Amino acid sequence: MFKLSEDGLKYVKNELTRYETKQSAIIRCLYRAQDENGGWVSPEVIQHLSEVMEIPAAQIEEVATFYTMFNKQKVGRYHVQVCCTLTCGMLGGRELTDAMMKEAGCKKTGETSPDGLFTFSKVECLGSCDTAPMLQINRDPYIESLSTEKAVQLVRDLRAKAKGH
Ligand code: FES
Repeated sequence: MFKLSEDGLKYVKNELTRYETKQSAIIRCLYRAQDENGGWVSPEVIQHLSEVMEIPAAQIEEVATFYTMFNKQKVGRYHVQVCCTLTCGMLGGRELTDAMMKEAGCKKTGETSPDGLFTFSKVECLGSCDTAPMLQINRDPYIESLSTEKAVQLVRDLRAKAKGH
């Protein structure tokens, strides 16, 4: 059963005071709840937010479904979102994703690696085309100007970091 932390609750209550309509706070509150729920928006998250925000669950679900940055399925500790369109696509975004997935042990996008660390998604333009190809991990800053070698090394470095090396 999902419940926001005390700080999370304070955050949501504060967001509700910042806009003219409660609905305008949904995106920011979903972000917070997703972070507190290990990176995804489960039905319990929507139900809990609905109760805390006093907004019908269907409205929150609609927002969570519309925006691709909200994950409707469980993801690994590192949700790697690789831009595969336009410039990034032409400069090897897809090949780079395949190489990273192979290194991580994922057979397809959306699947979490056996060690629970990685989930990969191919996403649309993230607005950083001049530094293509690029990706984003969770909500951290972009990692840009990648090559396949750098991307594979990134997976190795993250795995080492997770294991405390
Ligand atoms: S095409 Fe990849 S960030 Fe725009």
